[in-house]
Amino acid sequence: MTYARIAGIGSFLPEKVVTNKDLEKMMDTSDEWIRERTGIKRRHVVSDSETTASIGLAAAERAMADAKVGPADIDLIIVGTATPDKVFPATACMIQRRLGVKGCPAFDVQAACSGFIYALDIANRFIKTGGATTALVIGAETLSRITNWEDRGTAVLFGDGAGCVVLQASDEAGIISTHIHADGEYEDLLHVPCGISIGYDQTRSGRAFIEMNGNAVFKRAVETFDKIARETMADLEGEIGDIDWFVPHQANMRIITAAARKLGMPMERVIATVDEHANTSGASIPLALDQAVRDGRIKRGDTLMFAAFGAGFTWGSAVVKY
Ligand code: ACO
Repeated sequence: MTYARIAGIGSFLPEKVVTNKDLEKMMDTSDEWIRERTGIKRRHVVSDSETTASIGLAAAERAMADAKVGPADIDLIIVGTATPDKVFPATACMIQRRLGVKGCPAFDVQAACSGFIYALDIANRFIKTGGATTALVIGAETLSRITNWEDRGTAVLFGDGAGCVVLQASDEAGIISTHIHADGEYEDLLHVPCGISIGYDQTRSGRAFIEMNGNAVFKRAVETFDKIARETMADLEGEIGDIDWFVPHQANMRIITAAARKLGMPMERVIATVDEHANTSGASIPLALDQAVRDGRIKRGDTLMFAAFGAGFTWGSAVVKY
């Protein structure tokens, strides 16, 4: 049986850091309020010259070095992003050119905060069916570009960053299961209410910003993490004790804690980086994964569970032998 195995991981965070104290100078908020409600202390924000493609590229280069693969080995590139550089071409194609990779399929997946899980699911299917042998699965976001810095209800929540895994075909266990879902009923609870086809004229100063009903999203996220936990564990016919590390989408510490509780996973086995990174949407899981691998918590042979929920609503999970 062919598995898709994580052969390497890399991530990239922009140098510029915006702390809660910095936000206090920009809007009517406080470090205490933000930490208490979200667990976030700081977030990284891109400079004028950085873009989703440039930070995604940096993460991909690090992951390729970690996996010891070169441009000639790569035969699939998928980028999960809600903040692509351009309408087209895909950010994946821009990264492909800059890496010097030739000819392989390269495309973006738009599933908001679930983008990395969607991309991982698709790459897994390619590898299992022989359509690819070495895939780059990238989550990269520049959410600061769609953040309304005058709206304290959303501006405090988001950050920028990128993470990448190299997936390789292997006889050894790798991705054990994936599940992805969507329910388009709740479009208005979390959205950027303008765009290419619908037009930009309905927004303040012609800009597109994240708009969210925070309370409703919170409730839905917690309920959905419960569904994800049940579906994933039923499919595995396993017990939560079989999972060594839970690596959830880093939305908010209260959502992460509630999700862990639903799973019955003790917090000592939950990877949380939301304090340092804030919510980086599709980048948050590979960023958290990379940090936990680098600091030695996650080791080869460990069983990991990823889970995400985001705008759409979209949600999904993956269980992976690392
Ligand atoms: N600083 C200070 N006060 C604030 C701020 C802020 N940054 N933002 C809102 N407030 C105020 C509100 O105006 C309100 O004041 P009022 O009582 O005078 O009207 C008060 O704080 C309470 O507001 P609520 O919205 O009820 O606060 P809540 O406890 O729900 O926390 C939060 C808000 C943090 C947004 C929460 O709803 C949440 O985490 N929602 C989930 C959102 C999320 O994570 N979205 C990410 C995308 S989806 C995903 O990734 C899963």
